[in-house]
Amino acid sequence: MTSTSNIQSVQSESAVYAPSSHFAKAMPSLHVPDMATYEKLHTQALNNPENFWGDIAKEFHWYKPWNTVLEWNCPDAKWFSGGTTNACFNAVDRLVANGQGDDVAILWEGEPAGDNGDTPEIRKITYKELQNEVSRVANTLKRMGVRKGDVVTLYMGMVPELAFAVLACARIGAPHSVIFGGFAASAIVDRVHDAKSKVIVTCDGAWRRGSIVPLKENVDKACEQLPEVKNIVVLKRVGNSINMKSGRDQWWHDAVAKETTSCACEEMEAEELLFLLYTSGSTGKPKGIRHTTGGYMIYTAHTAKLTFNLLPRAGQIFWCTADIGWITGHSYVIYGILANGVTTFMYEGAPNAPKEDRFWRIVQRHKITHFHTAPTAIRAFMKWGDALPAAHDLSSVKLLGSVGEPINPEAWMWYREKIGGDCCPIMDTFWQTESGGHLITPLPGCTPMKPGSCTLPFPGVDAAIVDEQGNELPANSGGLLVIRKPWPGMLRGIHGDRERYIETYWGKIPGMYLAGDGARRDGDGFFWIMGRIDDVLNVSGHRLGTAEVESSLVGSKLVVEAAVVGMPHEIKGTGIAAFCVPHPDYAHAADDALRQKLMLHVTNDIGAIARPDMIRFTTGLPKTRSGKIMRRLLRDVAAGKETTQDVTTLEDFNVLAKLRESDE
Ligand code: WT7
Repeated sequence: MTSTSNIQSVQSESAVYAPSSHFAKAMPSLHVPDMATYEKLHTQALNNPENFWGDIAKEFHWYKPWNTVLEWNCPDAKWFSGGTTNACFNAVDRLVANGQGDDVAILWEGEPAGDNGDTPEIRKITYKELQNEVSRVANTLKRMGVRKGDVVTLYMGMVPELAFAVLACARIGAPHSVIFGGFAASAIVDRVHDAKSKVIVTCDGAWRRGSIVPLKENVDKACEQLPEVKNIVVLKRVGNSINMKSGRDQWWHDAVAKETTSCACEEMEAEELLFLLYTSGSTGKPKGIRHTTGGYMIYTAHTAKLTFNLLPRAGQIFWCTADIGWITGHSYVIYGILANGVTTFMYEGAPNAPKEDRFWRIVQRHKITHFHTAPTAIRAFMKWGDALPAAHDLSSVKLLGSVGEPINPEAWMWYREKIGGDCCPIMDTFWQTESGGHLITPLPGCTPMKPGSCTLPFPGVDAAIVDEQGNELPANSGGLLVIRKPWPGMLRGIHGDRERYIETYWGKIPGMYLAGDGARRDGDGFFWIMGRIDDVLNVSGHRLGTAEVESSLVGSKLVVEAAVVGMPHEIKGTGIAAFCVPHPDYAHAADDALRQKLMLHVTNDIGAIARPDMIRFTTGLPKTRSGKIMRRLLRDVAAGKETTQDVTTLEDFNVLAKLRESDE
């Protein structure tokens, strides 16, 4: 990264960027214009959450008003109890009713785009058209027998139809469960099974860097183990040859086209399930995070509004590069952005298709005003060189966003200078699948920024750093990040596993929500996230349980034991290191071929994001006398560090020496 050598010495602590007057000038108005306003809002929200969130909720459409804003019975929160509403109505119909019917809701660009990336397929869908399309899909689902409460699985590429399908589910009260298109068949099996979903909406395939991701084929493979799946709707996107099973599979263009564009929204209790989204935890089984209608809708809309200073009909074009298969896509590609009456931009494919300047071509072509991506992507852009963004007109961009992992100060500086014209504010948003929306984030034109810090809690979020007993720690001490008061967008549980919900989030420090991250607060009260404290890796901003990768490795039958830890990785932030004890049949040939086989196995089993970056073979894993794998020690080995660990409890001292010896 030669281009960044001049800023390597950024002292994250001392560098402070005052709220930019440039941003304030570029906006017709600021929702939170200064820190005094922020402090006032934050205090009001903490002291009287009922009034604060009640007033915000009144901006939305309710069939029936709530009786109580908040009933808190730790760990169970009920927001807007007694109230009825519909999330699709609030993200689509409400805007049509408010005169935004002809405004563009979704602006989309496909991946195939000619040699230079200059002739892509572009689609513009207005709010009125969106209402019509969503209604057709909703009617299709109803015709197939989907009723309120039935979970519908969506496994699609980044096409507008995925957004239609998400909103169609919300419209009829059928919770959606979106599975990231990069996951393999076994991930579909687990999730469909856990959610008891009988309907899948998918595509024949998806475009990714010029090749086809065989989505329907993966669904077919998964369905060999899922006799409960009764209906599959298939959108034709890439035109690859696929099997259509008669009686079960139907084409989107046949099924959806014949439906009418009129479909009433289902009146939903505020606490009825809006969606499930599966995420990794410290055991092998992904958790189905439950989000409910009223609280999630209000929270994503309000966080989007303040954090990105969204203003309807002000020409804003918001591009969040996240896939809809992740919570960021749910909240800040679909619900939060549309509910603010702002155009959400969706891109189908890879950042380097056909070339590494694709994103900058897109920004210039569509005059993107808000650009939101992940640190891992920023580090890749840095590597690809400054000349690429410099060759395009990025002056439309007024605000930058970062999400998914801590952003290193070098990447922060590069982002600001090369993409943000040295003046755009950067919103480093810290949050989680479980939180529904932002927890800690700057507000643009308001919060001073420190590169690498996600700054201050969103108004109303009672974030703190505590020790294991729950005592708040003094400034600059590393500790556990907790949230001490409920917020509307918080998860309402893990699907079908109440005990795990209580144990994971509320059991360790009673009465406080444990985020699972280590962090510290500096003398100014700014938060610095230090990373996960559980066996969860953050690979390229995606969460992955070490246990999931380990069980996949062992499942290959090529190895008898595996331990997976994170290791520093230039682009991904955290890479995956696997220490494996080969099966006796393969021990003599524990070489590169075996390594390749294992990597392929994990890719096919979970998906490319879980593919180990390094595999080391060993005759044994370092364990304590009680048989626990010494992961911290393996982390040191993977990082090439001398271990600072006390190894007196290590069962076999030789194991450590051997691990160090073994080549990659
Ligand atoms: C974990 C949640 C929330 C959307 C994407 C990931 C890490 C997320 C930041 C940030 C430092 C961050 C945390 C968190 N994380 N954003 N701005 N700074 N760390 O959602 O898959 O549920 O992962 O991502 O470790 O716990 P997720």
